[in-house]
Amino acid sequence: MKGFSTPAYVYDTQLLNDTLESIKAETCNDPAFCVHYAIKANDQHDILTMIAKQGFGADCVSGGEVRASIEAGFPAELITFAGVGKADWEIVLALENGIGMFNVESREEMEVISEIATAMNKVAHISLRINPDVHANTHAHITTGRAENKFGIASEDMLEVVRLSNDLPGLSFEGLHFHIGSQLLDMSDFEALCLRINQLQDKLESAGFHAKNINVGGGLGVDYEHPQEHPIANFKAYFSTFRQHLQLLQGQRLHFELGRSIVAQAGILLSKVLYVKHTATKNFVILDAGMTELLRPALYGALHKIENLSAEERHTDESPECVDVVGPICESSDVFARDYLLPHTQRGDLVAIRTAGAYGQTMASTYNHRPLPKVYFI
Ligand code: LLP
Repeated sequence: MKGFSTPAYVYDTQLLNDTLESIKAETCNDPAFCVHYAIKANDQHDILTMIAKQGFGADCVSGGEVRASIEAGFPAELITFAGVGKADWEIVLALENGIGMFNVESREEMEVISEIATAMNKVAHISLRINPDVHANTHAHITTGRAENKFGIASEDMLEVVRLSNDLPGLSFEGLHFHIGSQLLDMSDFEALCLRINQLQDKLESAGFHAKNINVGGGLGVDYEHPQEHPIANFKAYFSTFRQHLQLLQGQRLHFELGRSIVAQAGILLSKVLYVKHTATKNFVILDAGMTELLRPALYGALHKIENLSAEERHTDESPECVDVVGPICESSDVFARDYLLPHTQRGDLVAIRTAGAYGQTMASTYNHRPLPKVYFI
């Protein structure tokens, strides 16, 4: 990686393919399972085409994502469109392209989709995103299935909204959608979701309605602490949790929307050390990458493993030094790690920030008038 310009995202296509193969191995015997890739995690065209080629669907949350997934070759019928604030032009775009499913987040949105679809002489296939009020064990900013979150329709209102969907023109009610949060490593969170879905399905069936599709969203977490030891997420445990606890009805399809677990480990943020600055109380390793390239540490206090690749090549046996690894941005929160042990580091060293393939490049910004990071595939 010596010739690469920094800061840059570097993606390992072999690991991405191995990850996709692992998902297929865990699901392929079950034609009821349909995995969509949540493209918000990483919307690089080359990554999208690789995932589309392997037969996955796409989960989108904006018109731009719908367009990008069509351009990358995802079949329209395997594209789902979620999000609490779908604009009219985005609904039109999705209908024009004949996407498989709108995951509807409110009665108000459903009425607008009905109006637009009727005016276009189309039928929108809709699933209702139900807020299951399940408390997932993750960072407060990335939990989505609690009653106080803005997402979805309250479960108490489910029957009323399903009834209304049958009365409104231009809509076909196809199923229920859920998503409880992200970076979930405790399978009991997904188990709790399954039990809640079973209850809601009972309620729906007793009222005479049937969901042909159940979508359980995404959320499977990855190992940020030991990325090399666990490069592929625990798909076995994840899918078997749903097999074991979710009571699927005859002919029902089960959809997943995985983002992070598909791409996170396949990407690193490569950066160069600009300065090693010593003060009375601290040693700062100042990188040419900052919160503009990888926002997660500043936004969620997330810790990504940091490795000094140049020091590893030097093979020195000096003891590690305790440093704060920071970026160049004019914000005090522009810190990748505090009191972190790195081998002796010097100006010009190349540093890898691991597990950056998901929610890294897609959340990058041009703050401080910086260019967007470069991209390499290896
Ligand atoms: N489906 C829906 C409706 C979602 O909102 C999300 C993520 C996913 C699927 C994919 O979830 P995943 O499998 O990637 O956990 N920027 C944050 C993560 C935000 C997740 C937003 N929704 C982070 O860097 O941790």
